[in-house]
Amino acid sequence: MKLAFRHALLLVLVALLQRQGWSVFRLTTPAQHRVMVGGSSGYVGRAVVQELVARGISTTALVRSVESLSDVTLEYLKGSNIVQCNVLDEREVEEMSRLHKPNVAICCLASRNGLGKDAYAVDYGGGISLLKGLAASLDEQEKDRSTSTGAIAAAAASAAPSPAAHYVLLSAFCCGKPLLQFQLAKLKLEEELKTFSPSISHSIIRPTAYFKSLDGQIEAVRKGNSIMYFGSGQCAANAICEKDLAAFMVDAALQPERIGMLDTTRNVGGPDVPPIEKRQQGELIYDALNVPKEKRKFIALPLKIFDVLLSIASGASNTFTSLGLKELGGACEDAAEIVRIVKYYATGKMSPLRTRSHTYSCQIPMSNLKLKHLLLSPFLTTSIQNPWWR
Ligand SMILES: NC(=O)c1ccc[n+]([C@@H]2O[C@H](COP(=O)([O-])OP(=O)(O)OC[C@H]3O[C@@H](n4cnc5c(N)ncnc54)[C@H](OP(=O)(O)O)[C@@H]3O)[C@@H](O)[C@H]2O)c1
Repeated sequence: MKLAFRHALLLVLVALLQRQGWSVFRLTTPAQHRVMVGGSSGYVGRAVVQELVARGISTTALVRSVESLSDVTLEYLKGSNIVQCNVLDEREVEEMSRLHKPNVAICCLASRNGLGKDAYAVDYGGGISLLKGLAASLDEQEKDRSTSTGAIAAAAASAAPSPAAHYVLLSAFCCGKPLLQFQLAKLKLEEELKTFSPSISHSIIRPTAYFKSLDGQIEAVRKGNSIMYFGSGQCAANAICEKDLAAFMVDAALQPERIGMLDTTRNVGGPDVPPIEKRQQGELIYDALNVPKEKRKFIALPLKIFDVLLSIASGASNTFTSLGLKELGGACEDAAEIVRIVKYYATGKMSPLRTRSHTYSCQIPMSNLKLKHLLLSPFLTTSIQNPWWR
């Protein structure tokens, strides 16, 4: 009886706080959360799962094929509940959500090629499926509440506030200056997330650049090849390492308000101020690999190359399309989009303008590339044998 009284008192308190605008989500302690992660086999997704498990959070890692997970990815996902689920199928995600009843979704999905059709299917469509899955989970929790049996359980259930949930979206810094199809797909998801449901709060995280972008260059240098960059090599970024990004995302997932991420969009990057330029980055890689100055090789490619390639690909696309050869026209348009993507990253500065207020502290600044950590990190060592772009 004493217990029932305490329970009732707690519910009254919760109801009062809720009337003051506190959602159930904010009243849940981190350990009580159930998190589902979309894109958990990816570079950031798997680091996010690892961080959640390390913090003792019940985690469902959604993957498109359990069989194709590498040993390294399996190691990252250890301790989570790995569930095969096609995130492009809304109904499948809803069914899975009704079963596992997550109250947090973290979306780390990204199309593998960045082209329009795939980006709208994966970055946008997959993200929406997770959102609807979260809504289905809330619906299921509401049903559980209304079907509670027993006098005390029923009274407690009817007094308890409605369930609420939180959605964390891994977006990209470059969405602040959108020119590419995948950026537009991500922005569309960002907008829908903001208005989807009052029961689902959100955090949108836009990282500047990832350390993994270096691995191709490290591999090239190890083989004795040159480091290539475009233009003057002054394009700069303050990249963030995946471990720090994952820690920030998990903070945003479990206690968004504490870190100022409740219903907020924020750029995050590493601490390098000023950010590291491409040419400098090359020198840091050579330093890390102990290559003497006289043996360092750089190739600077002219930026004009992009305009030439773009006009060839776009011209061919227009010609084929006007001749009724839609497939060929589409293939050339895809080639043009790939050139636009490479140009964007070869020329765009990936560093928040208001660095101080927008940068999340990163333990491993790029300028410390000498750190063995980076060169020996599981991602880099495996990707060097099996590069991610292949
Ligand atoms: N690269 C950068 O420097 C950078 C900087 C800032 C922001 N970002 C953004 O960060 C985000 C994630 O990056 P990331 O490097 O972690 O991505 P990633 O390693 O390519 O991972 C993508 C994830 O999405 C899944 N996925 C892709 N296509 C799918 C499909 N058709 N069906 C189901 N799942 C699918 C992948 O599953 P599979 O393993 O089965 O393919 C994987 O789990 C992207 O949105 C990117 O724009 C990147």
